[in-house]
Amino acid sequence: MIRVTSSQRGEPIFHLRSGDSSYVFTVFHGYLLHLYCGAQISDDDVEYLLVRIGHDSVVPRPADTYQEDKWFSLDVATQEYPTNGSGDFRKSALAVRLMEKDGRTSALAGTSTTSLRYESYEIVKGKPTVDAQPAVYAGEDEAETLILTCKDPASGVTFKLYYTAFRDFSAICRRAVIENTSREQLPLDVLQAYSASVDFTSIEPQPELLHLWGNWGDERHIERSPIGHNTVSISSKRGASSHHHNPFAALVTKNTTETSGLAVGISLIYSGNFEIAADTDSFGTTRLMAGINPVDFTWRLEPGESFVTPEAVLSISEEGLGKMSRTFHKLYREHLCRGAWKDKTRPVLVNNWEATYFNFDDEKLLAIAKEAADCGIEMLVMDDGWFGLRNSDTTSLGDWFVNEDKIRCGMKKLVEQVNALGLKFGIWFEPEMVSPVSELYKAHPEWCLHIEGRDKSIARDQYVLDMTRQDVRDYLFDSMAKVLSSANIEYVKWDFNRNLTEVGSAWLPAERRGEIFHRFVLGTYELLERLLTAFPHILLEGCSSGGGRYDPAMLYYSPQYWTSDDTDAMERLEIQLGTSMVYPASSMSCHVSDCPNHQTGRNTSFRTRGHVAMGGAFGYELDLTKLTDEEKALIRQQVQEYHRYYDVINRGDLYRLILPTDTVNSKCGKCASWMYVSEDKSEALVTFVVIRTSVKPIYFLKLQGLDPKAQYIDEESGAVYYGDTLMKAGLNLCKRYTDGESVVIHLVKKQ
Ligand code: DGJ
Repeated sequence: MIRVTSSQRGEPIFHLRSGDSSYVFTVFHGYLLHLYCGAQISDDDVEYLLVRIGHDSVVPRPADTYQEDKWFSLDVATQEYPTNGSGDFRKSALAVRLMEKDGRTSALAGTSTTSLRYESYEIVKGKPTVDAQPAVYAGEDEAETLILTCKDPASGVTFKLYYTAFRDFSAICRRAVIENTSREQLPLDVLQAYSASVDFTSIEPQPELLHLWGNWGDERHIERSPIGHNTVSISSKRGASSHHHNPFAALVTKNTTETSGLAVGISLIYSGNFEIAADTDSFGTTRLMAGINPVDFTWRLEPGESFVTPEAVLSISEEGLGKMSRTFHKLYREHLCRGAWKDKTRPVLVNNWEATYFNFDDEKLLAIAKEAADCGIEMLVMDDGWFGLRNSDTTSLGDWFVNEDKIRCGMKKLVEQVNALGLKFGIWFEPEMVSPVSELYKAHPEWCLHIEGRDKSIARDQYVLDMTRQDVRDYLFDSMAKVLSSANIEYVKWDFNRNLTEVGSAWLPAERRGEIFHRFVLGTYELLERLLTAFPHILLEGCSSGGGRYDPAMLYYSPQYWTSDDTDAMERLEIQLGTSMVYPASSMSCHVSDCPNHQTGRNTSFRTRGHVAMGGAFGYELDLTKLTDEEKALIRQQVQEYHRYYDVINRGDLYRLILPTDTVNSKCGKCASWMYVSEDKSEALVTFVVIRTSVKPIYFLKLQGLDPKAQYIDEESGAVYYGDTLMKAGLNLCKRYTDGESVVIHLVKKQ
């Protein structure tokens, strides 16, 4: 997977062959220069790709290469991990600053010029664990990791760069480690440390940054922004990866489609403030980088201490966005998600949030559970409102003990009764929050994030707990563990309903307060890990007012995530297909909810609601006691269908056929379509939804991913087609549809 050869100067060239991609870089007079990232190539020595033209006088040359290579300038070179202040005036990946201590100083102190020179490399089998942060994992025969050791010659500070290449995935994982080995034994402030940076030459005809923007109830819409000679960047300063920008972007060309063209996705395994930026310099090189947002970030390293960046994952495709997504899906499903539920078939659940909001008691829950059992649903989830005095969102977060006015029979008895009906039982928590009206806040007002002397902003009547504190995490662990051990609870929905403001922490000294945002995220990870270690059987579902923290790091703990608080099937089409740019269907929690829909007021047929919710981890979110017999019969049918199609949806390959935003649909109304194909191509499930019908409903749907030479039977009609016919000529779906009508076609390979 990783080959190291020698350049004519005797310096190493690293060729990482990962899946069917190549990633090549070289050492040039000690500088790490990027050479190639794309479809696999045969040559190792591609140093001829370096830009070697001479430049104008404003471009500085490094002192140590100037005599030998007059053309060489860091400001023009394609770099692997660009640093600040040494002659590359583009965006830097790395900047550190030596500080003074106890009267000791250095000429370098207070300056942020940073230089990185290659010293040595090591290749290890598999993928070593660098620290406790979430990361992709791989077995010894599945991956190789290249570890480069570099130094800043003036300060002696060490930088380690990690690159993992995979046998079966066209993906590269990257991260950096900064070790304070400063010669003067001074403290070091890390000012910015991105996880990865890649310089691409000549992205033709025009580079674009594809990214996922959104809002509450409106997450992950696909947008393509042209990258001119300026920086295009997406970021979060909210303390969470956010509804507004997902920590993912893809470098594409103007001509990239689902099935053709360059698509290099970069996905950051991180749940806090991040930035992903791309810009094209005046020489035509496009730099793509991702990492912790340097705004509101510094990290103090005392001598001997290290800082590890989160991991960034590159998915490299020259066959369009579809392939890039499928690499992310499989890699995250198989090498990021963990635990007992990673491969286990997830239960179909009913959640009482939209059924009752805060207005429920044990009897109401049991009534829903009885209907659920009758319909074949497998788990009841008791959402927000079961604890403290929580009858509205104004109180009790932090008071994680059962409200016995509502759950009169007690937790144990309630769960026993639900289990007796044949259902599992799940519960909701929002651990990182506290209500000002709560016993917890009364006892520990200093436990929330705050800055003495400043007012605390409030959102949804709650404050954010200071997750950097060990005592806070211990309290949360103990109180949650008490609930989780009190009954047979098999699922937890972990919510997070506001973002961080007035980010201060009383226990950290001033020089460490730039660490709070990142420490908050690390504190949450620690609590998640501790709870899952103590309760390994629990299926954790992440949530953040819907999908406000739907990121790869959360999938490391929770293999499924509540995709959005907008449960309207038509709205969900765009949200779910946007989410599928990076995240596998198995991670997308999708529920059939009531009509008129609570968020939009729209009416959509029960059948279509089911078809759309089958785009991921399936469930219901409505009052089952209020349904007609006909609707209950439909639920029984949907649950059976979901079981039948479970493997192809959750373990198959996704092909996006029509996005609701595709302009081409205007000639035949507005629609959306996608399909899953099993890995062995023996079956496929196609979903087609007409969002807004048209006077000329002409739909020929060209499928993808089938075996061209095999014959497939349409299970419902009995029609038989060759795979190539379905992919080249398409299915004839021309008929008059009503708005919101949908079709699901199950194709099975003929033996
Ligand atoms: C926001 C979540 O997204 C909802 O599903 C629900 O759990 C509420 N919070 C409860 O407060």
